[in-house]
Amino acid sequence: MSTPSLNIVVLISGSGSNLQAIIDAVTAGQLHANIKAVISNRPDVKGLERALSANIPALTLDHKQFDSREAFDQQLIQEIDQHQPDLIILAGFMRILTDDFVKHYNGKMLNIHPSLLPEFTGLNTHQRALDAGVKQHGVTVHYVSNELDGGPLVLQAVIDVNENDTVESLQQRIHQQEHIIYPMVIEWAAQQRLEVIDQQVYLDKQPLENPAKWINNQLIN
Ligand code: GAR
Repeated sequence: MSTPSLNIVVLISGSGSNLQAIIDAVTAGQLHANIKAVISNRPDVKGLERALSANIPALTLDHKQFDSREAFDQQLIQEIDQHQPDLIILAGFMRILTDDFVKHYNGKMLNIHPSLLPEFTGLNTHQRALDAGVKQHGVTVHYVSNELDGGPLVLQAVIDVNENDTVESLQQRIHQQEHIIYPMVIEWAAQQRLEVIDQQVYLDKQPLENPAKWINNQLIN
């Protein structure tokens, strides 16, 4: 049985290494998605170059050009909806979204956040994990709700924190994990294995009581 293709729009604010991982997974035939557009709220970021190199329409919608968060989000909705995506992928999109925006894409928007949510929402997650002396750290793919870095959790990659870890070493290892698990979750959606109903995530029709875990290159669910 062939896998139907999923139309996605990817929102970025910076380097776009997660975008690159998604592009590479599509090119390799591991991810059955059409990346219809990439939109950045910051001009001249590397992620836009990555999109253009892959022949994906890339657009800057500079939030500084808008009078309010609401006006920016409304324009963003217009740009996104032209592509009629099945899923909106936030890949390092560093904007707080209005409730209206989140409601508009209820159950259709994924984010990746560099911590084991609900631990360490917000910024500087690696420094805060080191300061807290946690033994394990990681990254979470989750559906977006109107709570900052909230919403139903889907998959977490977990890594051990070593005594000599630094922000940079954690960032590097977490990035590697991000680049594996984000395309993986999007492919679950493409294969119609993933659903969220009333804030409950289902994988293969089974409710996830806890997020699935990716540990030492193995899926534990
Ligand atoms: C990623 O580490 C992602 O987890 C983080 O931004 C980075 C973007 O990297 N997202 C957040 O902190 C969201 N709260 P990239 O531009 O190289 O993909």
